[in-house]
Amino acid sequence: MRRAVITGTGMHVPPRVVTNADLEKVMDTTAEWIQQRTGIRERHHVDPGTGPADLACEAARRALEMAGLEPDQLDAILVASLSPHHDFPGISAFLQERLGVDNGCPAMDIRCQCTGFIYALQVANLFVASGQYERVLLCGAEVHSTGLDMTTRGRDVAVIFGDGAGAVILEPSPDPDRGVLSVHTHAQGKHARKLWVEAPGSVYAPRISAEMIEEGRHFPYMDGRFVFKHAVSRMPQVVHEALEHNALSVEDVELFLFHQANLRINEAVGQRLGVAPERIYSNIERYGNCSAASIPMLLDECVRAGRLEPGRLVGMAGFGSGFTWGSALLRW
Ligand code: UT7
Repeated sequence: MRRAVITGTGMHVPPRVVTNADLEKVMDTTAEWIQQRTGIRERHHVDPGTGPADLACEAARRALEMAGLEPDQLDAILVASLSPHHDFPGISAFLQERLGVDNGCPAMDIRCQCTGFIYALQVANLFVASGQYERVLLCGAEVHSTGLDMTTRGRDVAVIFGDGAGAVILEPSPDPDRGVLSVHTHAQGKHARKLWVEAPGSVYAPRISAEMIEEGRHFPYMDGRFVFKHAVSRMPQVVHEALEHNALSVEDVELFLFHQANLRINEAVGQRLGVAPERIYSNIERYGNCSAASIPMLLDECVRAGRLEPGRLVGMAGFGSGFTWGSALLRW
């Protein structure tokens, strides 16, 4: 099989910044608590009328520009997200419309929550490596803010999430040594209800009721400590799996990009792996947890800051609702 390589990256966040001090005004929390427990100082929230397809479109345009491609040259469009623009069709259909792509290329959503980008990268990589497609756009895009309980009842979850999008373009690598080396993904559905949004759900008729809304069952629920505990063990595990698969060691990896759920989680993951903090890039303090968008946003910032030189190894890992977790290794 040929190898797929990332030829363009992009990211976009909505302009409105919500600081920890802003949250103090609407719920019983403190800026210190949020910063100490999560590392987050601020996040971006959309204004009404902006959805994940809009954020993805901006990120995708930047990635296309870097790759030197026009939108209608795309052979496939993938979007990873847990926050659909509408119930159906998926975000990818609205993104295709916004990009003005009318060449009949497939458009597909992948719903694997905070590990969504890694899962979608696995699919996009196989599309390119197998020879099925030449130019694949992969976006991670989330609008969390419109679905959060911004009162004290929802404070544990509301303070951590932010809105944003990241995008990459995958194409066949002209150099067989460079590109995506491996992607590993896992899930453990028995913990699905430890981090979920219950309603609306097709299992209910009607899918949501006034009573459910009253009870807040349309807001995310998270057993924070339980999720935390699993994240800090699963991420190192799946990074080791990737390294062993490629006969590489932690020292070989120039830069680690971990899902931005909580700075303390990533510090613990770094310690368990024995990685110095300067080799773990982080932007959670500015954007919060953008779920499937977090990793491509990190990647775009690193690429544009010149932190990745050709030939260097990049390690990615994520953990999230499902539970799902995964890792990817790329030679830049
Ligand atoms: O991205 C997908 C995966 N998600 C994650 O990986 C998130 C994992 N979990 C976490 O990041 C952390 O569990 C949280 C940041 C959500 C919570 O931090 P924690 O250190 O685990 O706090 P806790 O849930 O154990 O709560 C400690 C205390 C509680 O008060 P009592 O019972 O000790 O009186 C909470 O009610 O902190 C309270 N608390 C808050 N206080 C101020 C919870 N949220 C807040 C808040 N502001 N926003």
